[in-house]
Amino acid sequence: MLEDLKAPVATAEDDSLDTDDSKQVLGREPKVKYEPAKNGVTVVDIENSGSGFAGLGKEELMKIANQPFWVRLRWTLFILFWLSWIGMIAGAIGIIVITPKCSPRPVWQKYPVYQVFSKSYQDTDFTSRPNGQSSGIGDLEGIRQRIPYLVDLGVKTIGLSVIFPSPMKDVGYDISDFMQVGEEYGTLDEFDRMVKEAKERGLSVVLDFVPNHSSEDHEWFQKSINKTDPFTDYYIWNDGVDVDGQRTPPNNWECRYSAHNPSQIKSTENGDYEVEKEVDVATKTGECGSAWTWNEERQQYYFHQFAQEEPDLNLRNPAVVEEMKKVARFWLDRGIAGLRVNAAPFLFESEALENEIDLPNGQLSNNHTFNLPEVYAFLLQIREVLDDYSSKDGMERILMTEGYVDLDDLAKYYKNNGEMIAQMPMNLGFTEVTDSDMTGNKLQQFISAYLEKLLPESMWPNWVLGNHDRSRVATRVGENLSDSMNMIAMLLPGTPINYYGEEIGMEDSPDSKFIDRGNRNGFRTPMQWSNETNAGFSEVEPWLAVNGNYPNVNVAAQDAASESHLKVYRELVKIREMASAQYGEISFPYVDEEIFSFVRNKSGNPGLLVAVNLGDSNRFINFSGNGLPETLTLKLKNVGGTPDISVGSTVSSTNVTIPAKNGFVFSY
Ligand code: NOJ
Repeated sequence: MLEDLKAPVATAEDDSLDTDDSKQVLGREPKVKYEPAKNGVTVVDIENSGSGFAGLGKEELMKIANQPFWVRLRWTLFILFWLSWIGMIAGAIGIIVITPKCSPRPVWQKYPVYQVFSKSYQDTDFTSRPNGQSSGIGDLEGIRQRIPYLVDLGVKTIGLSVIFPSPMKDVGYDISDFMQVGEEYGTLDEFDRMVKEAKERGLSVVLDFVPNHSSEDHEWFQKSINKTDPFTDYYIWNDGVDVDGQRTPPNNWECRYSAHNPSQIKSTENGDYEVEKEVDVATKTGECGSAWTWNEERQQYYFHQFAQEEPDLNLRNPAVVEEMKKVARFWLDRGIAGLRVNAAPFLFESEALENEIDLPNGQLSNNHTFNLPEVYAFLLQIREVLDDYSSKDGMERILMTEGYVDLDDLAKYYKNNGEMIAQMPMNLGFTEVTDSDMTGNKLQQFISAYLEKLLPESMWPNWVLGNHDRSRVATRVGENLSDSMNMIAMLLPGTPINYYGEEIGMEDSPDSKFIDRGNRNGFRTPMQWSNETNAGFSEVEPWLAVNGNYPNVNVAAQDAASESHLKVYRELVKIREMASAQYGEISFPYVDEEIFSFVRNKSGNPGLLVAVNLGDSNRFINFSGNGLPETLTLKLKNVGGTPDISVGSTVSSTNVTIPAKNGFVFSY
């Protein structure tokens, strides 16, 4: 072994191997035998020495240490040591970087979507109006001027209702030109200006898209009547059948809006009309009559899911699909961030034209005219159009769909056969909630079923409180609970989709200047901006009368008040920014017929508890034992909420008093 080392010669007289140090190390004198040198090398026999190795002397050690082999080895180990340190540090940083974190939410998820019903938002006397004056109809310039309000409100996505030329048989959903702006709304330049300015202020616009039907005034329909190609088959035509010598529609399919159904409307003495019977006709048959209307000129029936002035487009004709894609591109080119597909479940009907079944409630089944699988295939094509734009500039384009469908079908609007379709198939369940039928248990069942369907599939939830087809939430649930409904929709996982005016608690208006199909005017009345003439909406008489409550219920007043629905809304937008509201798990600590509550928890962050009393008497609830701490801090209460507790003060979670029709948001 020592031979291998080729250590330099050491002699018996050489005391370098017999230092005091080596003696100390071994604790006793080493007994080393030196054998005569061979070839100038002295052999040291340790084995036979009868003692342990005494170690090399310092000088010897240095000599060996300086040999190139050892120098190289030391350097190699030195470098390896530091390389592995650096590697470990880099690895640790890498792990931290790639560990799944709460990725930032895109704005359409983080902030509410706000539906602007264009005709009722803000009228201006912008000079491009036909006569350079206010018209009593909301316009694009009006929306542009209200962008600062929307910024202040904290919403980031505007859901813009129809703005297209229309004879207004279905308040604008009967479109006579898909690629133009109705003159009462302004011009394409004004549209561009509004979209551009919205973008500059961090807002994006998602536009109504109506592929199901056009107006009967649309050039396509007129040419289709005349069988002018390529428009001949742009709509759904049928000869009908002969029944006992009588020409009749091909089947029993019914439409959803009456043209002027006399059972609904009667004339009054002063020549006006009034509604005799209120029917919810947004999705129901039974009040409209046949979905087939005879056209004398073409000598055929045409099909219409809705009013007879709204013939259905034939989406089985690839040329029509191409037209609708062209429409989508036209508006995407003008800078919109997405489309809201109107009446999505109505896009296709069975080609075999089978009769629907007569149901005992007087309505028809929906087997052959509602939510056919072809709907998803069509929407997928629209998705592809949107994705083309996204891939070009990296900006996500949004697809929203409107449809009152069951949960299983709703989920397919997100993803069908593994293919992603819409980011926001609108969850319209809350639009049907009324005070009389709302219980804590029902709310929880509805919410849980929806979330359980969506969340495991990473589908992003949304909550629509109201729209232009449904009574306003403040009317349905009452003024106090309207704040609570906002608390619920804003703090559940997902995006709240609000209808203009919900932020100030606007209610349905009993005034109505004309009869709308479905009697929907009451919840489409002008936005209430101030207590000035016409609520600050228009300098001239508005197209629909302003709700008489506008002197009290308006933006300016609520902005000035120390507490208001508007302030509750703005605060909720802020609370939504909390990590627990964006990413937190949800659970329901206490629910019964009157009480509805949920918590949002994100570890390492303050949690949130929303607690609402839907009932008529005060309740004292023990929320403890549900992972909630002893002390809760009040973050928000509804307008007119109990003076007994103020925002910022604390309560014990073992006994939270929730007065009747009140809602609270606590943090902990
Ligand atoms: C759904 C729209 O929201 C509604 O207002 C309209 O009447 C129908 N589609 C028919 O277009």
